[in-house]
Amino acid sequence: MLSDNSIEYYEAAWALRTQTMISIMDSETSLARALARMQEFESRHEIVLLDERLHYRAKPTMDPITRLETAIRAVSCGATAPGFAFTKVNFGEMIASFAHGCDCVAELGSGYGLRLFQTWLAGGPAEARYVGMEPTASGRGLAAKLAALEPGMRFESLAGDHQDFDPAALGRERTLFVTCFALQFAPVIPLDFFRRIAAIPGEVLCLFIEPVGFQISPTGDRAALQMEGARARNMNFDFLRTFNAAASEGLIEPLFIGRDLFGKQDDPFTQGSVILAAKS
Ligand SMILES: C[S@@+](CC[C@H](N)C(=O)[O-])C[C@H]1O[C@@H](n2cnc3c(N)ncnc32)[C@H](O)[C@@H]1O
Repeated sequence: MLSDNSIEYYEAAWALRTQTMISIMDSETSLARALARMQEFESRHEIVLLDERLHYRAKPTMDPITRLETAIRAVSCGATAPGFAFTKVNFGEMIASFAHGCDCVAELGSGYGLRLFQTWLAGGPAEARYVGMEPTASGRGLAAKLAALEPGMRFESLAGDHQDFDPAALGRERTLFVTCFALQFAPVIPLDFFRRIAAIPGEVLCLFIEPVGFQISPTGDRAALQMEGARARNMNFDFLRTFNAAASEGLIEPLFIGRDLFGKQDDPFTQGSVILAAKS
C-alpha cells in the first residue's frame, strides 16, 4: 500500500517528477530555468494517488490579481500573521548563509537535490562538494540528471537515510549538514544518527529545517494541529528528544532553536522550525 509517508511513495513521486523534468529539459539547458519551470508546473498541479499509482492533477489556482489582493493565513517567526501570496521562503539563501567556508554541503533526504541546487544558485561556496544523500533511486537519478546541467558544480548523489549514511564520504575541513522536511519521515531517530554526524571529519554545523514545533513546545500554539497531523501519518515524534540526548552525551552543541519560523496556518507540514547545532 503506497502511503504518503513511505519511501515507496517518494520512489514513485520522484519517478513521476522525472517524467515532467525530462520534458522540461527538452527545451531548457539552464539549471535555474529547469527548476523554476518545475516549481511553476507544481504550483498548478498536485500529486494524487489513484489506483495505487501517482498522477498529476490540475489544481484550482487564483488569478494573479486575486492573489495580489488576498492575504494568506501565514505562520511567520513563530506567530500567525497575514502573508503576501507571492512571498516564498528562500531555502537556498538560508542554507548558503551557513555554508561560508565549508568544503562540503551535505543534505540527507535530498530528494532530487532541489535544496542543494538552490543553495548553489543562491551563491553557495564555489569550491565545495555538494552531496545529496537520498534513500530513493529515482530521487538520486533525477538529481544526477539536473547536476549535469551545471558542470561547474561539484555535485554527488549518494544513497543514505537516517540510519545509514557514510560520514567519511562528507567534508574534510568543514561540513554543513542539512535536513529539510526529511527527518519528519523517520518514525524513530536513534542516538546513532548523531554519532554518525559526530564521526564526520573536521568541523560540522547541522541545520535541521523540520516541522517539529510540537516537539519544541508541546503545549504551544499550533502544537495540537501539528501533533494530530504527525500522528495520523505516523511521522516522527522523537527528533528533539534524541537531539537533547545527543547534547547530553557531548556529541553536539545546540546553537539555536527557532519554532515555527514559517509556513501556512492550516497546513502543519509546511510549518518549519529551524534547529542548529555544532559537532562538539
Ligand atoms: C518532502 S521530501 C523533501 C526533499 C528535499 N529535502 C526538499 O526539501 O526538497 C522528503 C524526502 O525525505 C526522504 N526520506 C524519507 N524518509 C527518510 C529517512 N528515513 N531518511 C532520510 N531521508 C528520508 C524522501 O525520500 C524524500 O526525498
